[in-house]
Amino acid sequence: MKKLLYQFDTDTHPSVFDNVVGYDGGADHISAYGAVDAGNAAPLIDGAIFTRAPKDKKNTAIFIGGSSMAQGEALLDAVRTRFFAKFRVSVMFDCNGSNTTAAALVACLAHGRNLSGKRAVVLAGSGPVGQRAALLLAHEGARVTIAGRKLAVVQSACDAIKSRFGVQIHAVEAASAQERGAAIQDAQIVVATGAAGITLLEARQWQESEALELLADANTSPPAGVEGVAMSDKATLSHGKLLFGPLGFGALKLAVHRACVARLFEQNDLVLDAEEIYAVARSLEQARVTPHGGVAT
Ligand SMILES: NC(=O)c1ccc[n+]([C@@H]2O[C@H](COP(=O)([O-])OP(=O)(O)OC[C@H]3O[C@@H](n4cnc5c(N)ncnc54)[C@H](OP(=O)(O)O)[C@@H]3O)[C@@H](O)[C@H]2O)c1
Repeated sequence: MKKLLYQFDTDTHPSVFDNVVGYDGGADHISAYGAVDAGNAAPLIDGAIFTRAPKDKKNTAIFIGGSSMAQGEALLDAVRTRFFAKFRVSVMFDCNGSNTTAAALVACLAHGRNLSGKRAVVLAGSGPVGQRAALLLAHEGARVTIAGRKLAVVQSACDAIKSRFGVQIHAVEAASAQERGAAIQDAQIVVATGAAGITLLEARQWQESEALELLADANTSPPAGVEGVAMSDKATLSHGKLLFGPLGFGALKLAVHRACVARLFEQNDLVLDAEEIYAVARSLEQARVTPHGGVAT
């Protein structure tokens, strides 16, 4: 029986990235739909849940993507609400790569380190990746602040995290490079999750920080989101801080994404969202450490 993945994207054009990784994760066929939302998804969901016998339903799965967290989360709620009794299939939620990227990033930061009690700032964290990075850092016990250009936008992201996961994230407005520098003043962890190609911090701003221990940049499009962090940095020591670049944790991100797609086809009742995807990232990162203490490439 073929493994069928139904890719529901809230954007007009379904993500090609998610499509390719879906195949690499083990789907035999992917049907990709754009402009799917909570209001129009019912017939698509019904087609996925009513077609195969209970023992075969694990061969059908749903992937939710798109650039809007709010629309994606509403769509996930609509999918889950539509399921009943045994009429359900496994679902993965990864709007804009939010869960897989944030999970890989935070798993790299947390690997072999205790983040509990540390102060973390997520710069430009109101987007999908930043929201999930903030959540997972809090999950590790960090005291987390999201910074962004407008307090109302950041506060709304923090409110969404609070209402969905019950986790309190602090919001701060930091529109200029100078304000972002002030926002990271006494932070031990700084994560930059700004839009592609936007530089949020100058090198001297993090190099001169006495408190900073861990610095990560998610931006894969030049110029770097944080000046001085190289694409492939992975725990690279510089100015007394450990740096993580987008390709440094990007390989883990892809491995997590593929592994989660593969898991969708093992049973028909999984919902892979932040915590579940983070657990996969932690175990894959853990597995990379060889028994004699070295790190596998
Ligand atoms: N390394 C990887 O494997 C990987 C995978 C996926 C994504 N990414 C990267 O992760 C980053 C975050 O992705 P995302 O989808 O969450 O990003 P996004 O939604 O496009 O943008 C994130 C935030 O950037 C801020 N922003 C937008 N334009 C800005 C500007 N001109 N100046 C300053 N801030 C600006 C906005 O926050 P405010 O409006 O609140 O300021 C926005 O919410 C991107 O760079 C993406 O390319 C990396």
